[in-house]
Amino acid sequence: MAEGKMTPFTFNTPGSMLVEWGAAARLGEILAGWFPARSAFIVTDKGLNQAGVLAPALTSLKAAGFTVTVFDDVVADPPESVLLTCVDKARAAGSDVVIGLGGGSSMDIAKLAAVLVTSDQPLKELYGIGKVTGGRLPLVQIPTTAGTGSEVTNITILTTGETTKMGVVADQLYADKVILDAELTVGLPPLHTAATGIDAMVHAIEAYTSRHKKNPVSDVLARAALRLLSDNLVAACEDGSNRDAREAMLLGANLAGQAFANAPVAAVHALAYPLGGHYHIPHGLSNALMLGPVLRFNATAAAPLYAELADALLPPSEEGTQARATAFVDHMLTLMDRSGAPRQLRAVKVTEESLPMLASDAMLQQRLLVNNPVEVTEADALRLYQEAF
Ligand SMILES: NC(=O)c1ccc[n+]([C@@H]2O[C@H](COP(=O)([O-])OP(=O)(O)OC[C@H]3O[C@@H](n4cnc5c(N)ncnc54)[C@H](O)[C@@H]3O)[C@@H](O)[C@H]2O)c1
Ligand SMILES: [Fe+2]
Repeated sequence: MAEGKMTPFTFNTPGSMLVEWGAAARLGEILAGWFPARSAFIVTDKGLNQAGVLAPALTSLKAAGFTVTVFDDVVADPPESVLLTCVDKARAAGSDVVIGLGGGSSMDIAKLAAVLVTSDQPLKELYGIGKVTGGRLPLVQIPTTAGTGSEVTNITILTTGETTKMGVVADQLYADKVILDAELTVGLPPLHTAATGIDAMVHAIEAYTSRHKKNPVSDVLARAALRLLSDNLVAACEDGSNRDAREAMLLGANLAGQAFANAPVAAVHALAYPLGGHYHIPHGLSNALMLGPVLRFNATAAAPLYAELADALLPPSEEGTQARATAFVDHMLTLMDRSGAPRQLRAVKVTEESLPMLASDAMLQQRLLVNNPVEVTEADALRLYQEAF
C-alpha cells in the first residue's frame, strides 16, 4: 500500500462474543465462568417474559446459584422514566451483574442502567458523546431481535419529552460480553422479523456510505452483514423456525451493528426517528418506510458505493456504475416487498398534513444527516416524506 494512503481510524467493539444456538438455556453456567457476581439483574419487556422467552435462562441462572431479579417494564422507544425506575430496582436488589435480554429497547436500557447504578451523574448531563464518567456493573447483552445491533453499540436512545429521541454515546456502554442465541428469535412474528431485519440492512448500507467515519473494518463488516441479511430475510419471515435463516439474520444484524457503531448511520435514520416520535411507529418499520425514497435520493451521488454493495449481493455483471447502483436499489426494494413490511406512510396512519412537521423535526437530527452522501435540506426531507406517503 502506498505510504499515507490509509486514513487513520479507530474501531471499537465489545471484547467477547459467544455465538451458540441454545446458549441462553445454559446462561447460569456460562455467566458463573465469566464473573464472580451471583446476583443477576435482567432487563427485558413484558411481552418477552410472558411469552416464556426468558424461562430457560432463568431456570439455568437459578440452578447455577444466582439470585435473579427481573425488570420487565421496558417498552418500545423507552422514555427516561423507564430507565430511572430500572436503576432504582437494580440498586434495591443489590445486583452485581446486568443482563439485557430483549430487543434494542431492553438492551439500551440495560447498558445505561449498568452505568447509573454505580453513578450519581444526573441523566440530563449524559446526552451527547463521551459525557459519562466512571464505570458500570458487569454487562451482558443478549438480543432477541435480529435488528438494532444494540448489543455491540455504545449508544442508548431514549425518548425525551413527548416526541424527541436523544442518544447517550459513551465507551462505557460497550458490553463486556455478548451472547448470540438465535433460538431466542424463533418466536419473533413475521412483521417484526421483516422490520427489524430491514433496520439491520439499513445499518449496513448507511455505515458503508457514511461520509465521516467509514473505514476498512466497518466496510468489510457492512458487506458481510448485508449479504447475510439479504440472503435470509425472506426465509426468516416465511418460516420463523428456519434455524439457518435465524442464525444468519442474528449474525448479520450483529455485524451491521459493529459497522455502524464505528461508521454512523444517516438520512434513513434521521427521517425515521420523527415517525417513531410522533406516531410510535416501531424503529425497524420507520426505517423500512423511508429506505426506498432515501436510496433513490442518494443513488447518483452514492453510485460507486451502491455499485460495490451490488457486487456483494448480486451475481457479477459488466454493467456500468450507475446501472449497477440502480440494480442494488431495485434489489433492496424487491426484498422489502417480499418481506411483507408496509411501504407507505398512509398504510400506517400517518397524515399528509403532518409531513411538514416531520420534515422540520428531521432537521434536528443533524448528528445523523451529516453522514448522508447527499445533503438533505428541509425541502428535500419533505419531498422524501411525500414520496413515502
Ligand atoms: N442502541 C442502538 O445502537 C440502537 C440502534 C437502533 C435502534 N435502537 C433502539 O432500539 C429500539 C428498537 O428495538 P427493536 O427493534 O429490537 O424492538 P424492541 O426492543 O422495541 O421490541 C419490540 C417488540 O418486539 C418484541 N420482541 C422482541 N424480541 C422478540 C422475540 N424474540 N419474540 C417475540 N417478540 C419479541 C418485544 O416484546 C416488543 O414488544 C428502539 O428504542 C430504538 O431507538 C438502538
Ligand atoms: Fe436502526
